[in-house]
Amino acid sequence: MTTTLPTERPSLATIAHQLTSGGRGILAADESIPTMSQRLENEGIPASATARRDYRELLLTAPGLSDMISGIILSDETFGQHVADGRAFPEASRDLGVLPGIKVDTGTKPLPWQGGALITEGLDGLGARLQSYAERGAAFAKWRAVFDIRTITGYSARANGHVLARYAALCQRHGIVPIVEPDVLCTGDHDIDASKRASLVALTALFEQLDDASVDLSGIVLKPNFVTPSLEAAPAPAATVAATTYEVLRATVPAAVPGIAFLSGGHPTATVCAFLGALHAIAGRPWDVTFSFGRALVSAALHTWAGDPANVVAAQAALVANCGSAADAVR
Ligand code: 13P
Repeated sequence: MTTTLPTERPSLATIAHQLTSGGRGILAADESIPTMSQRLENEGIPASATARRDYRELLLTAPGLSDMISGIILSDETFGQHVADGRAFPEASRDLGVLPGIKVDTGTKPLPWQGGALITEGLDGLGARLQSYAERGAAFAKWRAVFDIRTITGYSARANGHVLARYAALCQRHGIVPIVEPDVLCTGDHDIDASKRASLVALTALFEQLDDASVDLSGIVLKPNFVTPSLEAAPAPAATVAATTYEVLRATVPAAVPGIAFLSGGHPTATVCAFLGALHAIAGRPWDVTFSFGRALVSAALHTWAGDPANVVAAQAALVANCGSAADAVR
């Protein structure tokens, strides 16, 4: 089969390794327009395309970001926007030493007759969109499946695993590394054992589907949740979270996967960095582990900025401090 790719593109395995190794991680700045608009308004900032652009430029151009950040996940809107000097975001990102990525799913809908379990949509026309993103410089993509511990079923795990696998195969066909994200939410009032059971169901189904779809595991990045009690329950020690998460991942994730980049899931920055540090310290891990945090990296920056240009420097410092904490956990 011929590919549409320029031959000089690095291999998928090289990109996946670059994203997840070397004491750096991935900045998730890909909130959808409605989610980003809500977060702006929560900080008293009127939501607009310009405000979303200004905020994402503040993040991307934070001094020293590439010392800690290997890749940035952008939304479709930001991917097509430009930084102040006129460069498109993907181009500016590469110039700054940060690989640009693109969120390509279009969000979740309830699966009929599944008690509220969700399916992530966005496969229609995805091949053409990936081709366009690749031509505009995307190195990697992201697709997020969402599972609530109260509603996950074997069927919903298989269905989401199937679309994740189809997405991943299409990405690889277009020379783009897929970040494969099965997100078992930590909302609810469950204990760590419930999170463990649900994460095992989601990950087992996912890797069966990736195998069926002939996805090259050496050219993906897995983005899972830490296995934790719910945010409302009594917290578990970092050592317990790390050991339980590692047990689940060892049981489900083949050693051929080069790197695992965790989502933060709404946990406070210091807490989730402690989880990551404890997991990173486990001897004999077969994969690189790092972070692909959203809220844990950016919330303080957004709050500090508050839409005022006078606060950009302080907001960037808040971002860099959180990125530094996360990077320290994997060094
Ligand atoms: P959080 O780190 O805020 O959970 O989100 C990361 C992400 O990219 C979710 O898709």
